[in-house]
Amino acid sequence: MRLKDRVSIVTGGGAGIGRQYSLAIAREGGAVVIADINDAGATATRDEIVAGGGRALAVHTDVASQDDTERMARAAVDAFGRIDILVNNAAYFATLPLRDYDEIPLDEWRKVMDVNVTGVFLCCRAVLPTMKAQRYGKIINISSGAILGGNPKRVHYVTSKAALIGMSRSLARALGDYNIGVNCLMPGGTASETLMAVQGPNYLQNVAAKAFKRVQVPEDLVGPLIFLASSESDYMTGTSILVDGGNHMY
Ligand SMILES: NC(=O)c1ccc[n+]([C@@H]2O[C@H](COP(=O)([O-])OP(=O)(O)OC[C@H]3O[C@@H](n4cnc5c(N)ncnc54)[C@H](O)[C@@H]3O)[C@@H](O)[C@H]2O)c1
Repeated sequence: MRLKDRVSIVTGGGAGIGRQYSLAIAREGGAVVIADINDAGATATRDEIVAGGGRALAVHTDVASQDDTERMARAAVDAFGRIDILVNNAAYFATLPLRDYDEIPLDEWRKVMDVNVTGVFLCCRAVLPTMKAQRYGKIINISSGAILGGNPKRVHYVTSKAALIGMSRSLARALGDYNIGVNCLMPGGTASETLMAVQGPNYLQNVAAKAFKRVQVPEDLVGPLIFLASSESDYMTGTSILVDGGNHMY
């Protein structure tokens, strides 16, 4: 039980990889606030954790809304008394159309930046007063292995995920004196349910470039996420962990 008595917020915990992060944190004894625009998914994740004897709360949150992120942080403190871990996992991703750079509508570009970059910043800002008062916190920003190789069909998305590396390093410098660590996890292409439903079963099947020649699944990310969320990584900050089966080596 590496997260016993810890309180976490997982954005986008209502589906896909974020759901697996939420369930894993609960298995390690942590309370989980599931913050998502997908209310049905967030409620289902909460119910599964509570049915297993864990502590969880679902809070409707659009991470791009400052009001919502502040409400999310208040709900966590009201329910569980503190906030130790923030997993910034929500993103405009699986349902984002694949397009060439010159076909991206400007409003789509802006929405990607709003959710994937500004949303992470707003969630950090919302929890930081609590983490600073505790003089303890772990922020895990979910970037992507795609920033290492680029993707011509996801220029806005890859740009947004690269921004999280700079944000994490800068916040790590700002928050070291408060004993708050800020790190990134960089998943490779992972067979999460919405992504596979949207892209079809052949998506991600080409594994020839990897050292481990199989499709990555959400469970592959759980161990590194728990490591970054637990005290085992307390002296790490401003860094990034790539989990992609050796597709890129970083
Ligand atoms: N699956 C992959 O191949 C892969 C690879 C690298 C990185 N990632 C990153 O991992 C994370 C999870 O990926 P996934 O495949 O599970 O994605 P997903 O698109 O299936 O799930 C994202 C979750 O975020 C929620 N969400 C979307 N917009 C939101 C908003 N404005 N406010 C709050 N919640 C919102 C969705 O409802 C959903 O529950 C994302 O940050 C993604 O960019 C995924």
